[in-house]
Amino acid sequence: MVKQVVTTICFVLFHCIISYWAFMSSCSIHSSTKTSIPAIARYFGTKGRYEEVNTHLIDDILAINNSLVKLPSSTCSEIHLTAIVRHGTRFPTTKNIKKMREFYDLVVRNATNNLKYLSEIKSHWEMWYKDEMDGRLVDKGREDHRYLAQRLIRWFPSLLTKDNLRKGRVNLTTSSKHRCVNSTIAFREGLMTGLGIEVELEPAVNDALMRYFDQCERFVKEVENNESALEEVKRFNEGPEMKRVMEKMADRLEVPYTSITDDSVEAAFYLCAYEFTIREVNSPWCQLFDEVDAQVMEYSGDLKQYWKRSYGHDINSKSSCILFHDLFHRLNQVVSQINSDGTVLQAVTVQVGHAETLIPLLTLLDLFKDDTPLNSTNFATQQNRTFRSGHIVPYAANLLVVLYKCPEGVRMGVRLNEKSLTLPGLTDPVPMYEDVMKRYRALLDGCDQETVCKMNYT
Ligand SMILES: *[C@@H]1O[C@H](CO)[C@@H](O)[C@H](O)[C@H]1NC(C)=O
Ligand SMILES: *[C@@H]1O[C@H](CO)[C@@H](O)[C@H](O)[C@H]1NC(C)=O
Ligand SMILES: *[C@@H]1O[C@H](CO)[C@@H](O)[C@H](O)[C@H]1NC(C)=O
Ligand SMILES: *[C@@H]1O[C@H](CO)[C@@H](O)[C@H](O)[C@H]1NC(C)=O
Ligand SMILES: *[C@@H]1O[C@H](CO)[C@@H](O)[C@H](O)[C@H]1NC(C)=O
Ligand SMILES: *[C@@H]1O[C@H](CO)[C@@H](O)[C@H](O)[C@H]1NC(C)=O
Ligand SMILES: *[C@@H]1O[C@H](CO)[C@@H](O)[C@H](O)[C@H]1NC(C)=O
Repeated sequence: MVKQVVTTICFVLFHCIISYWAFMSSCSIHSSTKTSIPAIARYFGTKGRYEEVNTHLIDDILAINNSLVKLPSSTCSEIHLTAIVRHGTRFPTTKNIKKMREFYDLVVRNATNNLKYLSEIKSHWEMWYKDEMDGRLVDKGREDHRYLAQRLIRWFPSLLTKDNLRKGRVNLTTSSKHRCVNSTIAFREGLMTGLGIEVELEPAVNDALMRYFDQCERFVKEVENNESALEEVKRFNEGPEMKRVMEKMADRLEVPYTSITDDSVEAAFYLCAYEFTIREVNSPWCQLFDEVDAQVMEYSGDLKQYWKRSYGHDINSKSSCILFHDLFHRLNQVVSQINSDGTVLQAVTVQVGHAETLIPLLTLLDLFKDDTPLNSTNFATQQNRTFRSGHIVPYAANLLVVLYKCPEGVRMGVRLNEKSLTLPGLTDPVPMYEDVMKRYRALLDGCDQETVCKMNYT
């Protein structure tokens, strides 16, 4: 009797231990897929996570890393900040959701290989992206901005103050796109939470400034609506490197080579990227790429940015003249206020836009310029290029321009994604403001939006 009870207890206990063990291991498998970072995450380009360029944020999203920033001497004080910020993490656009759905259907219907990750896609993964999600900001995108605002309070404690907010010395401007408006609202929440106050602070919508590219006729005609402007991208996507990626994909799925197009591999890459940035999942889609494949996909995306938004065509950067002048006009005002009665009326200006807002402006400033242009035939020799959109404009990318009042005069610092940059042609990471003006004299005296964007201008 006793023996039987003991046996039963032992059996039950054993059973419990086994189930507990199974439960725990399923949990740990689950949690490790939830938090593990796809090996190819740093190749996501403009679909990349901000944390990939600032890995210390993975452990502490509010951490600021002072060793990434060069400051002027401690006798200087901050007097102004302009932040030009990309919207946060978003859903794919309807066009890309359609490509993703087509590729998903192909995998489910036509892939015959019984690799583990393929059966995982077929039996466990659901196509949950809907057309109406069309480029909207996701919760992670709201967080991107809320936490960025809180880090900026830490970076600039004398500028992002209750007093400056209450006295209307902090201004918010946004593009009219819902993902930007909602990013700006999240940024404002971050400011209020971080400072522990509630004040009226209505963002101003300004597309002339934040979506200048739509309003520059010459850019629209010569680049945006001109297929041959992106000839190099097309050639690369039809070239040997991309062909190899497509063939490897077809082999992995066991489908005919003709079933896979450059749109299919792009869709697969997006599925991996969006599942990670939106849901923090290292999904089975990521298994469809090895590192070289991902580098090819990254290059294809970088080529597109290069020819459509950057050094590829002169008008790309020139289209941002209006934003360039808006920035320097404000900086000049701040400098003259400091030199007269010392009261700065605009302490902080935050402008929320797109990757397409930032890239042309950075290009106009001559930043991230490689010695040889990126083209369809130099993937291999451009391995170490500085033009990498994933490093420059991930979600919530931000260009920070800071003015300092120093005993010797006003100085200017520039940071991209919270890391100091030295402007090309200048040696001091925090140069005198007048030296910056000298450096960009030609643009300050010219670069007139009206003239530059007119069709007959040469
Ligand atoms: C700050 O950045 C430096 C330079 O990249 C890095 O070595 C260091 O680990 C970072 N600090 C933290 C706390 O992550
Ligand atoms: C900045 O915001 C204040 C109100 O908060 C407003 O009075 C002022 O006109 C704004 N400045 C600009 C340049 O938009
Ligand atoms: C903006 O965010 C609000 C919630 O904060 C949400 O209700 C709304 O649908 C969002 N709008 C868009 C266009 O994403
Ligand atoms: C389209 O782009 C090509 C290549 O840059 C250029 O030669 C051509 O003039 C452009 N066409 C128009 C209509 O601007
Ligand atoms: C998938 O398989 C079906 C037949 O089952 C075929 O009609 C279709 O063309 C295939 N799709 C692709 C893209 O190969
Ligand atoms: C691409 O650039 C390389 C230099 O890196 C040059 O030799 C080559 O001719 C260019 N290819 C095309 C198609 O323009
Ligand atoms: C890129 O940089 C690495 C490390 O400095 C170097 O070994 C490699 O040869 C470079 N590749 C090219 C194509 O320049």
